[in-house]
Amino acid sequence: MTKRAPFIVIEGLDRSGKTTQIETIRQRIQNSGRDVVCIKFPDRATPIGQMIDSYLRSQSDLDDHVVHLLFSANRWELASTIISYLNQGKIVLCDRYAFSGIAFSVAKSLPTEVESPPSDLPPITLPWARAPDASLPAPDLTLFLDIAPQVARVRGGYGEERYEKEDLQRRVRSVFGEIGREMSGEDRKWVVVDAGLSLSAVSQEIWGYVEPLLDGLDSSVGRLWT
Ligand code: TMP
Repeated sequence: MTKRAPFIVIEGLDRSGKTTQIETIRQRIQNSGRDVVCIKFPDRATPIGQMIDSYLRSQSDLDDHVVHLLFSANRWELASTIISYLNQGKIVLCDRYAFSGIAFSVAKSLPTEVESPPSDLPPITLPWARAPDASLPAPDLTLFLDIAPQVARVRGGYGEERYEKEDLQRRVRSVFGEIGREMSGEDRKWVVVDAGLSLSAVSQEIWGYVEPLLDGLDSSVGRLWT
């Protein structure tokens, strides 16, 4: 049986240096002579992605549950493509995945210092948030680039999009911590990287986790939450 390529996800808070690190890994993988494909969620190019984009840029308003399901649907749109890349031996490097979906949606439902208007709908909990992504292709490695929101702010400030606020980022970080505690078992499929270190230190650490996967895997692609 020929080996399939690994599915590698990079997660992190806004301003954690994700984009730069992904480009560095992509180049290193390519230099090693392997095929690599970069994908990114949300994929704003699809019709669902365009709805998400309009919401994130505050050009439309949607209930939090609806947005959550759109983000998940946006991943399902690419699910079979991801599997097909992996089976063709192409390493898939993915910028954000279902973990961002859970972290941001649950964080929005956590209590804030500012009183928000009461809602008729229930808050988004971890089990509710996880459900729509169940059975999506599971990453073989997820690198979570961790950075304190106040350090991220000093790095250059947040952008103008809906979630780029320090208070929300703080709550997102705490939900990511919870997801990480559930995910980090013996198999090292979830790794926390200190993104507050220098770019080269971070990329060196990341490479230490990526390199052992480059020769491919014998197992078939896993499914999320199983
Ligand atoms: P981006 O800045 O990486 O394009 O992501 C846009 C925002 O969308 C970012 O603040 C994280 C958020 N997000 C979710 O809320 N749910 C999701 O499922 C994903 C993939 C991203």
